[in-house]
Amino acid sequence: MCGIVGYIGGRTALPFLVDGLKRLEYRGYDSAGIATVGESGLELVRAKGKLHNLKEKLNGAAHSTGTVGIGHTRWATHGKPEEHNAHPHTDASGRLAVIQNGIIENYAELRLHLKERGCLFKSETDTEVIPHLIACHLAGHSLLEAVLAAVGKLKGAFAIAVVSADFPDELIVVRQQAPLVIGFGEGENYFASDVPAIVSHTTRVLTLQDGECARLTRDEVQIHDFSGARLRRTPRSLNWNPSLVEKRGFRHFMLKEIHEQPGVIRDTLEDRIGDATGPIRLGLSSDLFADLERIYIIACGTSWHASLVGKYLIEELAGIPTEVNYASEFRYCPPPLNLRTLVIGVSQSGETGDTNAALTAAKARGVRLLGITNRPESSLGALVGELIDTRAGMEIGVAATKTFTAQLVAFYLLALHLAHLRGTRSGERIREILVGLQQLPAQIEGILDTQERYITELAREFDATRDFIFIGRGLNYPIALEGALKLKEISYIHAEGYPAGEMKHGPIALLDSEVPVVAVAVPGKVYEKTLSNAQEAKARDARLIGVAPLDEPAAVETFDQILPVPVVDEILSPILTVVPLQLLAYHIAARRGLDVDQPRNLAKSVTVE
Ligand code: F6R
Repeated sequence: MCGIVGYIGGRTALPFLVDGLKRLEYRGYDSAGIATVGESGLELVRAKGKLHNLKEKLNGAAHSTGTVGIGHTRWATHGKPEEHNAHPHTDASGRLAVIQNGIIENYAELRLHLKERGCLFKSETDTEVIPHLIACHLAGHSLLEAVLAAVGKLKGAFAIAVVSADFPDELIVVRQQAPLVIGFGEGENYFASDVPAIVSHTTRVLTLQDGECARLTRDEVQIHDFSGARLRRTPRSLNWNPSLVEKRGFRHFMLKEIHEQPGVIRDTLEDRIGDATGPIRLGLSSDLFADLERIYIIACGTSWHASLVGKYLIEELAGIPTEVNYASEFRYCPPPLNLRTLVIGVSQSGETGDTNAALTAAKARGVRLLGITNRPESSLGALVGELIDTRAGMEIGVAATKTFTAQLVAFYLLALHLAHLRGTRSGERIREILVGLQQLPAQIEGILDTQERYITELAREFDATRDFIFIGRGLNYPIALEGALKLKEISYIHAEGYPAGEMKHGPIALLDSEVPVVAVAVPGKVYEKTLSNAQEAKARDARLIGVAPLDEPAAVETFDQILPVPVVDEILSPILTVVPLQLLAYHIAARRGLDVDQPRNLAKSVTVE
């Protein structure tokens, strides 16, 4: 969840570190800190809160000229978000500094042992045991040997980086189940939790694997396993456009990413469906689907919502029984699995601890695995044999938007592919849906062009609103859940999503004139039923907002306000209905003056279980 970054080269490390932390701040923003090594030894600067607090402190101090350095932006696990808990942490000499992303599970036991040996602790973090442990092993050893000896005592999932004033020409990084990528420059090398921190410096990168560590010098990167044995690894070239990590004139990354959705959908579809008359080209092996009996989908949060739509599509189009599990539940309450089961892991970051742990547990039981992610180079990518790249690229706003719609498109392609393989839908029906998918980008552009201003105005009316209810049925029920999640995570307004028909079984008691109800109601199987459920809310004085077609008399009659969506084949509607809900959440939060891209308590990549 935290972001870590580091530099070794011929230039002053500080600008790289600060810029890198800015680009990783989406991973956590409870505190930030840097340690540099230069002629004056080890310099440490840390500050509670967001990166701008650290920047202020750095501005007020003499600039460090060290050419080796590490930086950290924290999402607090052990110890409150206070300066003394901010990374880097040092050993007793103050000459060795460590940053860590992850959790050291046996830290309490190690801390006790180190205290008995006379070590003094200055923080409540799990990380602080690491510099002390390394210091215990330094006598007569290289920095790499001492780090590996310390790592041998750690239990948990972590990525670690170490610098020392006594070893001013190297830095050491270690990876065990937390992301870490190394960048190769000319006379300088870098590392980071994620590529946005290094992509404007180099596109030659190497993703460290679990159980590997690296010694970075100015001219070389040596990779070792935890026994110290040297490994041969070759960097790859990233096909990345640095503009992905810029706001390009939008006020927030989230708004930019909402607007990127038409392009992302075009990319996700490109060269996979041709002229919609042939098979869908997902590049997956046919063994993955042979004699398939059941599918389990594992995901968290917004990816879990996309998976609920995916379940509907796979069952409806391909007739394969499909269940969606929260990753955090699947691992400890796994369903019966057999060799005819396919487990699909869905994740925008590819680094979600719960999802990857559940997939690892499923893999150990011999089932087939498929990943759906926009980060094929991630840990999830390495874990699963087969993968659908949603091609949404990097998402910076903590609230997922474009990665969600891209996951939906991937599920349409997968469900149609399975329908084609199993002959459960005619070629004509498959073609109809594919043609409809190709029209969605232009339809979303229409929604964005016409509704942005209206929704900005509408958002003014919810300044004092404390609760929202979102309802939908069938494959728009997950969209109601997603609309509620978007609103609560960025505006801090309490919001719940319900299947519209379920309201009358309890939640309707919550309604009065103070609680707006947003209903997703599009023509199709459940249209009239959803409108009736909306009317039931209206009869309890709730203000009704419909995501519905503008020119449908029944919708006009029912709703106080309509966020219009074009009428499409009902099965395609979720990709359109989610867009006004993303805009509504965004504009309510922006109007409240909240930090839309970095909402409190959250992080983009949740690597802890
Ligand atoms: C919501 C959001 C989270 C993530 C969840 C899973 O906007 O972003 O709910 O969807 O943490 O993350 P990934 O998809 O990276 O596995």
